[in-house]
Amino acid sequence: MQILVTGGAGYIGCHTVLELLNAGFEVVVVDNLSNSKETALQRVAQLTGKPFAFYKIDVRDGAALNMVFDEHEIDAVIHLAGLKAIDASLEMPLEYYDNNLNSTLRLCEVMQHHNVKKLVFSSSAAVYGTPSMVPITEAFPRAATSPYGMTKLVIEDILQDLYRSDDGWEISLLRYFNPVGAHPSGLIGEDSNETPNSLLPYIAQVALGKLPKVRVFGADYDTPDGTCLRDYIHVVDLAQGHLAALRGLRLGVEAYNLGTGNGYSVLDVIAAFAKASGQPVPYDIVARRPADVAACYANADKAKRDLKWTARYGLAEICEDAWRWQYNNPNGYETHTIPVKKLENA
Ligand code: UD1
Repeated sequence: MQILVTGGAGYIGCHTVLELLNAGFEVVVVDNLSNSKETALQRVAQLTGKPFAFYKIDVRDGAALNMVFDEHEIDAVIHLAGLKAIDASLEMPLEYYDNNLNSTLRLCEVMQHHNVKKLVFSSSAAVYGTPSMVPITEAFPRAATSPYGMTKLVIEDILQDLYRSDDGWEISLLRYFNPVGAHPSGLIGEDSNETPNSLLPYIAQVALGKLPKVRVFGADYDTPDGTCLRDYIHVVDLAQGHLAALRGLRLGVEAYNLGTGNGYSVLDVIAAFAKASGQPVPYDIVARRPADVAACYANADKAKRDLKWTARYGLAEICEDAWRWQYNNPNGYETHTIPVKKLENA
């Protein structure tokens, strides 16, 4: 079976490509490398020992995409290409709408043209906005608080309309919670060359000494320790969730939460990371970050029931793997030599 992965060089993409190759799928990657590096794909090839096709293409370029479908017998598509930073989406909404919506429209047109109607789409827990309670099930009302979240919500609706127009489509909407960690090899992970916005990569850079302190955004929330609760899911679990979704595709449109079902606080994560790395992780409590919700974690029963998928890695493994990646690649994929460190507790 030949799978097209859009955004396959990105953080979630390269982990997904690796799992697909290891499971015996043939893979074709398209990525415009706007927020990713080809090195990630070279390392996937190194880790799997399996070749795959790569095209440096923007998914909005329908003609280029059409050529890829002409050249390969694509059976299904995992669509991960898109812009994903919540803050940036507030500053550049038009770029976000253009990128995320037009890429999906072009992709679906080309798929339709080639009679390929199996699609796994990368959605987000951001479609739940501020949930009225936790854990969150797929039946919760959707409401985005950022243009990023809105692009995911609108694309979900577009895909529903597509199915309504043609009931030959098989579509999964994967609502990710907080993807973190790295492949246990330490060779691929979230590229952290710039100062990160997300918690885990930020903590990792503090542990490494590249940043002085973690800023904990608010300790006055209505949660056990006052800091926000999130559902941190290991990127390898998430990648395997894509394979489960692919195998579980059936006629219609189904949404699945991909999370662990556990809510950890910011202070829990800091403590777990300090333990996993053996490094101090100093922090200051600062003001709340705008638009943060107090608690956001999944009820992931539907994926377990329908896709036979469940997250296997816990917070300790997440931190160990994130640390191995960060330590071995202090400047992300720009790092030229890789001193492979064996962690004492690994
Ligand atoms: C959001 C999205 C998630 C997406 C992620 C990365 C929602 C519901 N979730 O997660 O789908 O994968 O962005 O784009 O929209 N924090 C600090 N200090 C820091 C950084 C973060 O205290 O330096 C805290 C935040 O206040 C939050 C938690 O850590 O409580 C996690 O933040 P972050 O990693 O940025 O992800 P989310 O905003 O939860």
